[in-house]
Amino acid sequence: MMKVISVVGARPNFMKIAPIHFAWQQYRDKVTHLICHTGQHYDEKMSKVFFDELGLPKPDYYLGVGSGSHAVQTAQVMVEFEKVLLQENPDLVIVVGDVNSTIACTLVAKKMQIKVAHVEAGLRSFDRSMPEEINRILTDAIADYLFVSEQSGITNLAHEGISDNKVFLVGNVMIDSLVSNFLKIEQSDILAAFDLQASKYILTTLHRPNNVDREDSLRSIIGILNKYSKEYKVVFPVHPRTKSNLETFQLAGHISDNIILCDPIGYSDFIWLVKNAMLILTDSGGIQEESSFLQVPCITLRENTERPVTMELGTNQLIGTDLKKIDKAIEEVLAGKPVHRRTIPFWDGKAAERICRILVEKAFS
Ligand code: UD1
Repeated sequence: MMKVISVVGARPNFMKIAPIHFAWQQYRDKVTHLICHTGQHYDEKMSKVFFDELGLPKPDYYLGVGSGSHAVQTAQVMVEFEKVLLQENPDLVIVVGDVNSTIACTLVAKKMQIKVAHVEAGLRSFDRSMPEEINRILTDAIADYLFVSEQSGITNLAHEGISDNKVFLVGNVMIDSLVSNFLKIEQSDILAAFDLQASKYILTTLHRPNNVDREDSLRSIIGILNKYSKEYKVVFPVHPRTKSNLETFQLAGHISDNIILCDPIGYSDFIWLVKNAMLILTDSGGIQEESSFLQVPCITLRENTERPVTMELGTNQLIGTDLKKIDKAIEEVLAGKPVHRRTIPFWDGKAAERICRILVEKAFS
């Protein structure tokens, strides 16, 4: 029997590990699959609701690491995860995405000579001021199996000199979750709960340090939202980092009444809000992918994206943080500017099946 431990830490990890967990069930006679939650995200609304909705079992290990500086958070995950590996001695560790838990667990496993598979490998923003970019580069440099969601990942890993026999284009596990949960997602009553009409509202999410840790940036973005809220409802689920900064900079009182400020929203309700929005304004990585898959126009408030396929084939426009450009892009979308609506290769709900099949063939034979 082979033993695999998958790591989750922060909100975007849960919907990536869920399809992998379910895909392992096909190999129950060969593989024991355990889930370790580092506790990087710990609020019920950032964590537990996702486990419940996605049907994930309670994690086998919960490390309870919580918040801290990057060094503290990464180091604490390392200390606690080493204990898990000593106890379980797995054959393989699976990490996803680019959060601090991803690099922390990869480092620990590799130094114990345990193989690591990185899902969502090869994505690059080429902006090393982002903590996620550092996490991506380092994880990919030492992982053994690199599962890539889009063609750019193959090119990026080749440029970094990573041997192509470690690299597999398998598609997007986040889209697997969207596809497999879609019937449940359609049952959401979030539009009624917020008194929204389909295609008549803007959905926004913000949490990148570049946008929300600086008072001038956050104030400018709020200014834009206030402007458009005169004509359209704006739904703004607030990430804990953003919430705390809105308070610190005393901006909460400057937000228009037509903006629906709410706590982080559960998975099905959130995807249903994406599906029915007329426009998404975001700095999230995953939402660029989800809106592209659902063919809803997305304006990304960042200078770069590690997911270029969402611009090439999807509905994403990378606009940056220049207010005039953001304003113009929003005007155009609201005036009905057509967006790309093409299918992205391998984003078909089967990425996790491909990953498990490849691992069984290559890692466990
Ligand atoms: C992290 C990831 C980022 C990912 C994002 C998704 C890293 C470096 N960053 O950023 O890539 O896109 O998650 O959400 O790993 N907090 C709470 N409750 C929680 C979690 C966090 O209140 O459940 C607070 C923390 O105290 C902290 C802030 O939110 O003040 C930021 O949390 P943290 O995990 O450090 O980074 P994120 O900004 O969420």
